[in-house]
Amino acid sequence: MNKNLIIVYSYHHHNTEKVALRMAETLEAKVKHPGEISPEEIRSFEMVGFGAGIDSAKHYKPLLELAETLLPVENQKAFIFSTGAIVGEKKMARDHTALRKILLAKGYRILDEFACRGYNTNSFIKYLGGMNNGHPNAEDLQAAELFAQNLSKL
Ligand SMILES: Cc1cc2nc3c(=O)[nH]c(=O)nc-3n(C[C@H](O)[C@H](O)[C@H](O)COP(=O)(O)O)c2cc1C
Repeated sequence: MNKNLIIVYSYHHHNTEKVALRMAETLEAKVKHPGEISPEEIRSFEMVGFGAGIDSAKHYKPLLELAETLLPVENQKAFIFSTGAIVGEKKMARDHTALRKILLAKGYRILDEFACRGYNTNSFIKYLGGMNNGHPNAEDLQAAELFAQNLSKL
């Protein structure tokens, strides 16, 4: 049986994809984008990570839409991650709420959640040279790696 899977939707600056790839190295996980994997296949993994950039205080729509199509599971292990313009424990908890609710309703057991800053040139910010230049940086990716290592202890 395949063990670990990460599903990521990342387009703005591929920030979340960088995080996903670092976690995948640690977890020896397959990385797929929504649309590249069926609900039946997703259910065959032991642990599934779900990640995307944040838009309007939620994960990107294609990831939320994929989550809605997931088959019901019994305590399948999952984790949630994101990159956003601004981060913090409370903001992460809020930004992850929509996805968390869907996953819990499907029967997933969410082990932990991770967020870090991502380079952002949305809207007028691009005229100011963007914000969070260089993020996720080496420190962010190190934190992502540690997060992934810890998952096996949960
Ligand atoms: C259309 C759009 C809306 C965004 N809305 C938010 C938001 O509500 N909150 C936030 O923290 N960041 C917001 N951002 C910033 C992105 O979440 C951030 O740059 C993220 O790292 C992009 O991830 P990606 O490169 O993986 O797509 C937004 C960016 C875009 C392009």
